[in-house]
Amino acid sequence: MCGIFGCILKKGSASSLIHASLKRLEYRGYDSVGIATLYNNQLQIKKGQGKIDEVHQRLNLDDLKGTIGIGHTRWATHGAPLEINSHPHIDCTNKIAVVHNGIIENFSELKSELENNGHNFISKTDTEIIAHLIEDNISKNPKKGLADAVLEAVKRLEGSYAIAVISTIEPDKIICARNESPLVLGYNEKGYYIASDIPAFLPITNKALVIKNGELINISASGYEIKKIVDSTLVSREPKIIDWTPEMALKKGYPHFMIKEINEQPLTLRNTLRLQDHYLDLISTFLDRAKDVFLVACGTSYHACLAASYMFSKLAFLPTYPVYASEFIEQHGKSVNIDSTILAVSQSGETADTLSSVTCAQQRAATILGLTNVIGSTLTRVSRVYVGQQSGPEIGVAATKTFTSELSVLAQLALRLSKKRGKVSQDEMDHLSEKLETIPKNVETIISTQANKIKKIAKKYKKAKIFFFLGRGISAATAYEGRLKLMEIAYVPSMAFPAGESKHGPISLIESGIPVVFICPKDGSHKTLISNIMEMKARGASIISVIETGDEIIKKLSDDYIEVPAGIPEILSPIPFVVPLQLLAYYVALEKGLNPDTPRNLAKCVTVK
Ligand code: G6P
Repeated sequence: MCGIFGCILKKGSASSLIHASLKRLEYRGYDSVGIATLYNNQLQIKKGQGKIDEVHQRLNLDDLKGTIGIGHTRWATHGAPLEINSHPHIDCTNKIAVVHNGIIENFSELKSELENNGHNFISKTDTEIIAHLIEDNISKNPKKGLADAVLEAVKRLEGSYAIAVISTIEPDKIICARNESPLVLGYNEKGYYIASDIPAFLPITNKALVIKNGELINISASGYEIKKIVDSTLVSREPKIIDWTPEMALKKGYPHFMIKEINEQPLTLRNTLRLQDHYLDLISTFLDRAKDVFLVACGTSYHACLAASYMFSKLAFLPTYPVYASEFIEQHGKSVNIDSTILAVSQSGETADTLSSVTCAQQRAATILGLTNVIGSTLTRVSRVYVGQQSGPEIGVAATKTFTSELSVLAQLALRLSKKRGKVSQDEMDHLSEKLETIPKNVETIISTQANKIKKIAKKYKKAKIFFFLGRGISAATAYEGRLKLMEIAYVPSMAFPAGESKHGPISLIESGIPVVFICPKDGSHKTLISNIMEMKARGASIISVIETGDEIIKKLSDDYIEVPAGIPEILSPIPFVVPLQLLAYYVALEKGLNPDTPRNLAKCVTVK
C-alpha cells in the first residue's frame, strides 16, 4: 500500500505542495519517497530511502522547480526499500516518469519482453515496466498522444494499480489510471490534485471525484477527461463535497482505525493473492528440504502459525512446531541445528522475542525464512528468504487485516509445498486455489451482512464477566485469536481452548448465561463439535455460534448465531471465520465506552523481551 499524489497548479511550487500532501499520505507507507516535476521541458527528480522527513532533510524536497509534478510514498512490495527502487520511475529516454500504487502480477513476463526489445531496467520494481511500456508505445507510434500511450500500456497490465504519469512529451498533463488501487481527483480554482486518498488534498480542497476501476483520467490546467480503459468511452461524473475533518478523512470516515482495517480486508486479501511466485517457490523448497520446521511468532502472528501447522500437515503432510517466540530458546534452542528451518512470522518484522529466536537459530546454523508486512524490517534482513504479506500499514494496535493476510500467505505456501510433494490431486489443488480467490468476496459478504447482528450480540453480552471461545482442529487457532481480540481491546477476561479440551478443566467455570463462542465450519469435526455444544448447553452456557449459512442443526442449538458463506474449505476457514470475532471484539469495546485503537498497556510493536 503506497501513496501517490500529483498536481497541476496555475502558479506556485508543485514540489512543496506534493511534499506536504505526501506527508498526509504517509500512513499508507513510509520506507522511501520521491517527487518528479516538469520544468523547462525536463524531468526534475528527487527521491530517497527513509521516511519523508528524513529524505527532506537530506535532499530538500521543496526546491524542485515547476508547477506540475507527481510524488510517491512507498511501502515496498517488489524490491527492497532502497533509493534505486523508490518512485518515480523513468523510461530509457528520461522523458516519462511514473508513480504507482499496487502490484503488477505479470511484471516478469512484461519485463523480459521489454528487455528483449532493448529496454534497460534500473530498479527491481514492477512499476518500472510501466514507464518502459509507455515509451515503447510512443516509439512505435510517435504520433500517439501521451494519454493513448498510457491507455495502451495499462491494457497490458494484470494486477492492481493506481498510476500517475508525467512526460516531457506533453508537459502540461498528468495521465492517471486505476484498477483496484484507490485514486481520487480534487480541484479548485488554483489547480488539480490527484491522490490515493482524500486526506492528501483535504486542506486544499473539499471538492473530490472518485476515479473508478478501469478508468483513465487525462488532466491538464484547463480541465480533465475520464474514459473507460476497455473501450475509450467517455465518463461523466459530478464531484462530491467532502465534509470530513482531516482526522475523519484519515480514517476514511470510519470512527476508528480498527474498523477501517477490518473493512479493508477484502482488498488486502486480494493483494495478498498477488505474491511473487518466485519467493513462494523458494520458501516452499526450503520447507520441503527441512528436517524440523519451527513456526515462530508472538501474539496474533503466533495464532497464524498455529493455523499454519494444520495447513502444512493436512495439505503437504509436513509436521511443523508452532512455538511462542518468547519460549523458543528455552523449549527448542538446544535441539535446533543445521537441518532445522525456522519460519518466523512477524507483521512488524521487529518483535524482539521473534528476532532473538531467529538469532539463536542462526547461531546454530539453521535456515531462517521470514513472513512479514514490513519489507526492510530486521526480519527481512536476517532471513535467507522472506515474503511480504502485502497488507499495507496497520495502525490499530489490535492486528486484524495483517492476521488474515498472514493466513492467506501461509495457505498459499502450504498449497505450493503440497504441489511440490504431489500430496494432493490436481482437482483438489484447483478447487482450493479457486476457493482462495473467493475468500475476499466472502469476507466482504460477512462484513456487509453480519455487522449489525454482531452489534446486537455485543450489546446483549456486554456485561458478561467472562467469555469462552471454542473450536476444534484448525478452528482452535481461530478461537484463540477471537479470545485475544476481545481480551485486548474490550478487557473481558476470556478463555480459548480446543473444544475437546474444555471438559478437562475449563468447563468447571461454566454457569448459567456465560457466553461460549463456538467456531463451527462444516469440516470433519462438525459432529463432535455438536457434542461439545451440548455439553456446554447442559450447564446453562449461552451459545454464540459462528456457522456456515444453512447449518440448521447448530443454528437451533444456539442462543445467537453469526453466518459465514458456506463451502469454504477447512484449511482456509480461519480467514473468514475470524472476521465476526474481530467485529464482536470491536463492538463490545464500543459498548463499554473504550477506544479500540489504543488499548491500555499494549504496543503495536514490542521491541523488548
Ligand atoms: C504485539 C501486538 C500484537 C502482535 C504482536 C506480534 O503484541 O500488540 O498485535 O500480534 O505484537 O507482533 P508482530 O509484529 O511480530 O506480528
